[in-house]
Amino acid sequence: MRVSGTLRVPGDKSISHRALIFGALSDGESRITDILQSADVHSTAGVLRALGADIPELSADFTIRGRGRRLQQPTRDLDCGNSGTTTRLMAGVVAASPIEATFIGDASLSRRPMGRVARPLEAMGARFVLPPHGGLPMTIHGGALHEIDWTSEVASAQVKSAILLAGLVSGVRARVIEANKTRDHTERMLDARGAHVHVDDESVTIEAGAAIHALDTAVPGDPSSAAFFAALAAMADEGELRLERVCVNATRIGFIEQLRRMGATILEHERHLEGGEWVADLVVTPGALRGGSVAERDVPSMVDELPLLACLATRAVGETVIMGANELRVKESDRIAATVANLRAIGATADELPDGMRVQGSAGPLRGQVVTHGDHRLAMAFGILGAVSGNLIQIDDRDCVSVSYPDFWRDLAQVCGT
Ligand code: S3P
Repeated sequence: MRVSGTLRVPGDKSISHRALIFGALSDGESRITDILQSADVHSTAGVLRALGADIPELSADFTIRGRGRRLQQPTRDLDCGNSGTTTRLMAGVVAASPIEATFIGDASLSRRPMGRVARPLEAMGARFVLPPHGGLPMTIHGGALHEIDWTSEVASAQVKSAILLAGLVSGVRARVIEANKTRDHTERMLDARGAHVHVDDESVTIEAGAAIHALDTAVPGDPSSAAFFAALAAMADEGELRLERVCVNATRIGFIEQLRRMGATILEHERHLEGGEWVADLVVTPGALRGGSVAERDVPSMVDELPLLACLATRAVGETVIMGANELRVKESDRIAATVANLRAIGATADELPDGMRVQGSAGPLRGQVVTHGDHRLAMAFGILGAVSGNLIQIDDRDCVSVSYPDFWRDLAQVCGT
C-alpha cells in the first residue's frame, strides 16, 4: 500500500466550538475562517442560537456579531446532539446566566456523566437537576455565581473549560487545579481576547472581572483528525504524506510523539504561531513499527486517539499496553470494551484492562465486521486499519464520521490513490 500526497484535514473541533462560544460572548465582530463544519460544531451553533446569539450559517469564512455576556432565556430545550463539548462548555455559560434551560442529546450523549460539571458549578451557586444516572436531560437554573477553587476529579478539559467560562460570564475568580494537564485551548483563547488568565504547573485561574474582546480566529487543522492519516502513512509500505497546517499545541500531540517512539518518521515544517496556537505541516513516512506503552500521565494529550493507537498496535512488533485511561469508558461509547471487542472480531489479539487495553502485534491479515456503536472515532480508527494491505474490514455505520470529519472516507480514498 502506498500512501502519498498532501492533505489538509478539517479544522480543529475543540477550537471550532470555542471560537463560536467566545465570538458570541464578546462585544464586537469576530471573523472565523476554516471552522470545522461537522455535526458536533453545528450542535454548538444551534445551542448558541437558541440562547439568542447571532450565529450565521457555518461556512469557510463568516463573522459573528457578539452580544457580550448577555444570553437570553431559550424557548426550547438545548439540543447538543452527540457533543459532550457542547454540553459541558455551554453548561458553564448557562450556569452563570439568569437562565433556566434543559440540555438534551442523542442516546450516547444522554448516557455520559454530567455530574462532573454539575458539582463544581453547584459549588459556585448554580442549581442542577440531573436524572438518576447522572446524564441528560440536565436542567440548569443559572444566575450570579461566586468564586471557586476546584480540584478536578477527572482529567477533563471540558470540565476545566466549563468552570473558566462560568467565571468569565459571572465575573468571578475561578481556579482549576489539575493533576494531569489537559488541552489548554480555552485558556489560550481567553488570554488572546484580553481576559486575565494565570497558568502555572498545576492550575489555571481566571481573575474576577475578566472581560473579553472580539477576535478573529483562523482554525488550524485538527491533530486528532490528522492522527488517522499519520497512522496510515506510518503503516504504509511506501510513500510520503504531508499533512498541512495541523495544530501542534503541546497538549494535543501525544499521539504524534507516540508514533515517533514506535518507529515512524514524522518531520515538522513551517512551524509558526497563529492566533495563539502553534501550527505546522507534518510529513510522515513509513517505519518498522514496534509496540509502545502509554501511562496515565500521557493520556490527556492523546485521549481521543487511543482507539487508533490500539488499531495501530496490531501492526507493530510486540505488545502495546494502554493504562490509566478510565476516561475511555465514558466517551461516545465505552471505547475500551468496543475497541477490544472489535479487534477480536477481526482476528487480533487484545484484552481489556480495567483502565485500558493490551494489544499484541502480528503480521496476519485482519478481517471481519466492526460495530461502531455510532462512535465516529471507532469508525475512523478501523477504517484506517481496513485500508492497510491484506486487511478487509466492514464497518457497520460509516456515516457516523459526520460528527467530527464528514469527508473522512473521501480523504482516505484520496491518499490511498483509490
Ligand atoms: C475536548 C476535551 C476532551 C476530548 C473531546 C474534546 C474539548 O474531552 O475527548 O473530544 O474540546 O475540551 P474531556 O475533556 O472530557 O477529556
